Amino acid sequence: MPGNLPHGGHLVNRVLSGNRRARLLEEASGLKNITISDDLSRDIENIANGVFSPLEGFVCKEDYDEILYRKRLANGLPWTIPIVLDVSSEDAAEIEEGDDIILRSSQPAAVMHVEEKYGYDRRAMAEQVFGTNDRAHPGVAKTYGMKEVLLGGKIELLNEIKTPYYRYALKPAETRALFREKGWKTVVGFQTRNVAHLGHEYLQKTALTFADGLYINPVIGKKKKGDFKDEVILESYEVLIDNYYPKDRVVLGIFQTEMRYAGPREAIFHALVRKNFGCTHFIVGRDHAGVGSYYHPYAAHEIFGEFDDLGIEPMFFKAFYHCTKCAAITNEKVCPHEPNNRVDFSGTKMRALLERGEKPAADSMRPEVADVLLRYRNPFVE
Ligand code: ADX
Repeated sequence: MPGNLPHGGHLVNRVLSGNRRARLLEEASGLKNITISDDLSRDIENIANGVFSPLEGFVCKEDYDEILYRKRLANGLPWTIPIVLDVSSEDAAEIEEGDDIILRSSQPAAVMHVEEKYGYDRRAMAEQVFGTNDRAHPGVAKTYGMKEVLLGGKIELLNEIKTPYYRYALKPAETRALFREKGWKTVVGFQTRNVAHLGHEYLQKTALTFADGLYINPVIGKKKKGDFKDEVILESYEVLIDNYYPKDRVVLGIFQTEMRYAGPREAIFHALVRKNFGCTHFIVGRDHAGVGSYYHPYAAHEIFGEFDDLGIEPMFFKAFYHCTKCAAITNEKVCPHEPNNRVDFSGTKMRALLERGEKPAADSMRPEVADVLLRYRNPFVE
């Protein structure tokens, strides 16, 4: 049984309050201000609230290189996705190492103590993180669109961004308290970027059979065209839990960040984040955080073999499908029938049905969930 400590031993808290916050807000206009995207502001909140513990800011070059080539931080802790701040060369020219700068979107988000400015190789980043240099991969395309210089250094949060989903925006300190209050000793975390089909439900319920509680933790934030919209994912989980889940054994909370589509590396990152939220176990199914056919369907299982010090236990699952002979949702570990009896959960088929305004069959999706999707003129990211 893994311990239930955050990654690195304690939850990072870099949220400013009181006099220091007031003083920095007053001084903000006199400092160099850099405008950042909402996605980056959310990652700043993730750092400040301990979702990304043990990170205290954007990584410096030594950590960056270790993450890329060893899947660890310079202090040896597992970490697979570089959390970086990219700025233009013009902005970088106006910043010295040692400066305090303000990162802002509509309002000042954070003060950053710049420790290091460094260049990087986009191709190396793409190849290491995504395992490909193909610009048709959304993560690679994003990498090639990044600005020229990276800034490393600790941040302190000045303001959170408002979210329409505040009810579900639980911080790690809050989820940990909630799980404790419920008396859960084992909590299995579920990552998703989708509305739930029956395969997702079976995955979660099979895992929950062995754990005290289930933390359903959809990614809310930037996703690729054709993925489901945030509000659709949340609404579909509300009706699913309401109709089909034991409410005292499930918590729904959001992880506000962008999807990176980095397959196996993102699976490790996803597990570490759920460890910080207080999970002891983490579900890894078929093609976790994958896109197209860039990753082997079980590459995200294999990568866990490279680590024996994650501090969260992965629960691996083979693909669930509907078997017409079993007349049940099952998977190849327990179903003996020929593959021609299998009906896979196909996102493409589901999308085509919904686009025609047709309801997915009850053996692939709960009718209440399908009704939510059909109420939207377009449930997909455009
Ligand atoms: S992901 O990008 O967040 O991984 P999705 O929301 O579809 O996409 O998947 C959430 C989790 O369910 C992942 O662990 C994924 O591997 C798993 N999963 C999705 N569909 C299936 C399926 N049919 N069988 C087994 N696991 C699945």
